Amino acid sequence: MAEAHDHTTTPESPERPYDVVLFGATGFAGGLTADYIAGRLPQQGRLALAGRNRSKLEAVRDRLTGINPALSDMDLLHADSTDPASLVSVARSAKVVISTVGPYLEYGAPLVAACAQEGTDYVDLTGEPEFVDRMFLDHDATARRTGARLVHACGFDSVPHDLGALYTAMQLPGEGAMEMRGVVRTNAALSGGTLQSGLTQLSRLWPMRQAARQRRQLETRPSGRRVRLSLGRPRRDTVTGTWLIPLPTIDGQIVVRSAAARADYGTDFTYSHNAGARKFRTVPASVVGFALGLVAVQVPPVRRAIARRIPTGDGPSQERRDRTWFTVDLVGSEAGATVHTRVSGGDPGYTDTAKMLAESALSLAFDDNPDIAGQLTPATAMGENLIDRLSTAGISFEIVG
Ligand SMILES: NC(=O)c1ccc[n+]([C@@H]2O[C@H](COP(=O)([O-])OP(=O)(O)OC[C@H]3O[C@@H](n4cnc5c(N)ncnc54)[C@H](OP(=O)(O)O)[C@@H]3O)[C@@H](O)[C@H]2O)c1
Repeated sequence: MAEAHDHTTTPESPERPYDVVLFGATGFAGGLTADYIAGRLPQQGRLALAGRNRSKLEAVRDRLTGINPALSDMDLLHADSTDPASLVSVARSAKVVISTVGPYLEYGAPLVAACAQEGTDYVDLTGEPEFVDRMFLDHDATARRTGARLVHACGFDSVPHDLGALYTAMQLPGEGAMEMRGVVRTNAALSGGTLQSGLTQLSRLWPMRQAARQRRQLETRPSGRRVRLSLGRPRRDTVTGTWLIPLPTIDGQIVVRSAAARADYGTDFTYSHNAGARKFRTVPASVVGFALGLVAVQVPPVRRAIARRIPTGDGPSQERRDRTWFTVDLVGSEAGATVHTRVSGGDPGYTDTAKMLAESALSLAFDDNPDIAGQLTPATAMGENLIDRLSTAGISFEIVG
């Protein structure tokens, strides 16, 4: 179970040439993140792009100059996941590095290592539990020593669930046993990069379990409090008016890590994470479909055939994204009181994921956040500041009942 090291930062970062460096701006999610950040960068904010293909980076800079003319002479840094020295040089030059270069299990580790070593804050979009656990095992201790804040899962995985759970816990006394469930609904479509990442993780169930076990052995538990992730079971939820389908994604893990690290969630916290279906027939169809899919992706030719359906660099059109929405309902109870909250917004996979990731980086670069370091969750690293930023950016946090 998660937490609770002394995450207090030690050294002050020396002055660095860039507030934020974005690695991956030539990809689908990275391109949207670049567009968003170009429009939101504070006037004196110093942004640079990093990547392996100079001409693609120049094309992105030209596009961003149309959004923010001050970026016309923005620096473009050479960085390749296969060249660790280039990543150390990027990490050394930035206060915060954003990475949208995935699958993270394939490409992500050297940059996390560089940021941990250089005391550089880091955010990404991973939803791959094995990657997050391996990065904890390999780099948490170094990051706590250097002062780096390593914050994974800053997209739809897992920001609305993690901040939604924090927001809900804050509506309750937070003094005793608290139960909470998350219920997610969306009509979103996939990009090539996300499909690749999902397939990579699902084909590695055994290494994923091993990494999780090693993490459990190493990680300190919160003292005097209990925190649990419950898988839950399919059932009718009268509060949200949906059928619950348990979702074994990274989101529940992130929520309980936040609960282990912050006192807001009471002395005995249990969380379950679910998809919500309006119609009962969706429940058996989803459970059987997921089980069959899981078996199918263990076979490499099947996996390759699925991956070819959406090429990397590609994703849903602007028109499709404009029709896309999400809601995450959180139902929390403590001492006989129940609160029902909702986080909602537009396209979760890309448009709003870009907002979440960019605002996470801007928060680390410019907000007054807790003085902690190591591998952190969005709720522990940016917490209330990120709720405020996302609310301003059009993602709603509300109390429903
Ligand atoms: N959790 C969420 O909510 C969420 C949402 C969206 C995306 N994601 C994740 O974000 C990641 C990116 O997705 P995407 O759809 O944007 O993928 P994509 O379009 O395929 O983009 C991949 C990016 O990685 C770069 N890259 C690949 N190999 C590299 C290397 N060796 N060195 C440097 N750069 C390299 C590519 O650069 P080139 O242009 O030079 O090839 C490109 O910029 C995926 O892991 C996906 O799962 C997560």
